[in-house]
Amino acid sequence: MRRKLIAGNWKMNGLTADGLKLAESLAQRAQQAADYGDPKPPACDLLVCPPFTLLWPVRDAIVGGGIALGGQDCHAVQSGAHTGDVSAAMLRDLGCDFVILGHSERRQNHGEDDATVRAKAEAALDSGLTPIVCVGETEAERDAGETLAVIARQIERALPISALAQEETGLVIAYEPVWAIGTGRTATPDQVQEVHAALRRHLADLLGAGRADATRLLYGGSVKPENAQELMVLADVDGALVGGASLKTEDFWAIATACPL
Ligand code: PGA
Repeated sequence: MRRKLIAGNWKMNGLTADGLKLAESLAQRAQQAADYGDPKPPACDLLVCPPFTLLWPVRDAIVGGGIALGGQDCHAVQSGAHTGDVSAAMLRDLGCDFVILGHSERRQNHGEDDATVRAKAEAALDSGLTPIVCVGETEAERDAGETLAVIARQIERALPISALAQEETGLVIAYEPVWAIGTGRTATPDQVQEVHAALRRHLADLLGAGRADATRLLYGGSVKPENAQELMVLADVDGALVGGASLKTEDFWAIATACPL
């Protein structure tokens, strides 16, 4: 049984005061839910991925509250002459358990390809981080009927198959159609389930059925309180990667509590 994961991708948002306020209010919500069952404890794991500058204060705000911490990217090597970059070992050292890799904004704005994502995922696994590997088609690719082929190609090339096959490493995959990110246009439940089921079949070919069955597949792209429930009940959807709506405690909590028990 896969427990759902609701992950907040804060992107490049938040100065210290805002970030701390957001983390503290979320931690408070989680604490109240754990202590009094009010508001209802979400039937999922919670994760926040703030910008690098906020990892430290956010970690202190959420510590011990059952909310995990993640980075939004890491370098493919662990240290050295890479001005401006942050390594997986550094994220781990700071208390991160997860790192988002290959987000379409990294692919578009920083020219990251699947080989880069794979190298970064290897570094993440080496440091004991669980990579959240993002895949997703553009609108043109969907219109051309290429969605499933694009997704299959991305996971084949972006996943460090041998590193994943060797040990009991963590792995999360996020399906984020590029046309649905930050646009308010969410993929329909049918579109999401079709891709997630195909992803799981393809993972079974690459990593074996047991591993495919245990891997959490998140959907991302304009997830909000209004559409969370219809997405979270889908058989192959194991959570969400939430951008805009993760910046408001009420919305993020509403998405988390939309997960079925
Ligand atoms: P969005 O972003 O929820 O704002 O569409 C999702 C993401 O990019 O991870």
